[in-house]
Amino acid sequence: MKATVENFFFDQYNLQPAVIVRSPGRVNIIGEHADYNNGFVLPAAIDKAAYLAVSLRNDNEIHLTALDLNETFSTTVDELKPIGDISWPNYILGAAAQFLKRNISLPGFNAVLASDVPIGAGLSSSAAVECATVFALNHLLQTNIERVEMVTMAQKAEHEYAGVICGIMDQFASMMGKTNQVIKLDCRSLEFEYVPFKLDGIKIVLLNTNVKHSLASSEYNTRRLECIQAVEMIQAYHPAVISLRDATVEMLNQYVLPFNNVVYQRSRFVVDEMERLNQACQFLQEDNIIALGDCMFKTHDGLSRQYEVSCKELDYLVDFVRARKEVIGARMMGGGFGGCTINLVQSDKINTLINSIKSAYEEAMGLPLDYYIATIQNGTDVI
Ligand code: GLA
Repeated sequence: MKATVENFFFDQYNLQPAVIVRSPGRVNIIGEHADYNNGFVLPAAIDKAAYLAVSLRNDNEIHLTALDLNETFSTTVDELKPIGDISWPNYILGAAAQFLKRNISLPGFNAVLASDVPIGAGLSSSAAVECATVFALNHLLQTNIERVEMVTMAQKAEHEYAGVICGIMDQFASMMGKTNQVIKLDCRSLEFEYVPFKLDGIKIVLLNTNVKHSLASSEYNTRRLECIQAVEMIQAYHPAVISLRDATVEMLNQYVLPFNNVVYQRSRFVVDEMERLNQACQFLQEDNIIALGDCMFKTHDGLSRQYEVSCKELDYLVDFVRARKEVIGARMMGGGFGGCTINLVQSDKINTLINSIKSAYEEAMGLPLDYYIATIQNGTDVI
């Protein structure tokens, strides 16, 4: 991949790129839709990544190429704004814009992007590009911005240029990932710890429904608002509650349930999920993988029935593996409405599982099923 972007960059601009940055996609073991509610999440960076080759220019022109899509886009630093039709330049432009917002002077630049993070699969292909861009520009401009601050810049790029008011998890995982560790991240304080994730004889298998989550951004923003609504209903009586992190089931039962059942279901899922994450971390530390897997199935059920961000294809995949002993845990992952399920599977049974689930899924859903065996890798860096 590195050689591909490097060679392409040379062919296109007749010079070597000044830097090539690799920034990975992510998985999340548990703690879904918890980040923007100030809860904990348990993500990790994976071996699929975006690769961005960049050189600064002497003028203010920005020239971008997405190698895999065979598309180019050009603008200037003075005209930086979100663009309508195609999405990928927004991730780069939005990240670049964050430097201007910090009053850092930004010259034009040339960039070539390639990525093997499948798009729309819930593996944070956009966060990977945002983090790669912030990291590359920070490196070239020698602005010495701390990693965690770069995470928030990448998140802002998603908010301002892609219009998804996402939480911090994806960009944090991409930027901060460490080989064979998951990140236990407190999304309120941004304190975090690395927790070893080496499960003997078990691998992370991602099953891609190939349903692109097109509904995702508007519904995602709606879920966010429903969570805020629940907080406001409680706040009237408990002013100290500023996010669902501070709410209890009793509060939801008393102040939300009698008035708005939809908002109750959404907020109840979030509060239960926060508790489940605590249990799951405990199980992980105790090597109680069966109990951890059970938590994942419960998360799926909540995401499907209470939070209502699943779809029939995701439900099909989780239901299929539920009774199979070789699958320790499974659930839909990420924002929802398509993308991948994450499965913890006994390594020696992966082939058998894939053989049976692939044909069953393709026949039942009329869509191809792709799968990836994910390994946990380091986060964003120069390569
Ligand atoms: C998307 C968002 C994240 C997070 C997840 C759900 O991936 O980008 O911030 O909210 O959905 O957990």
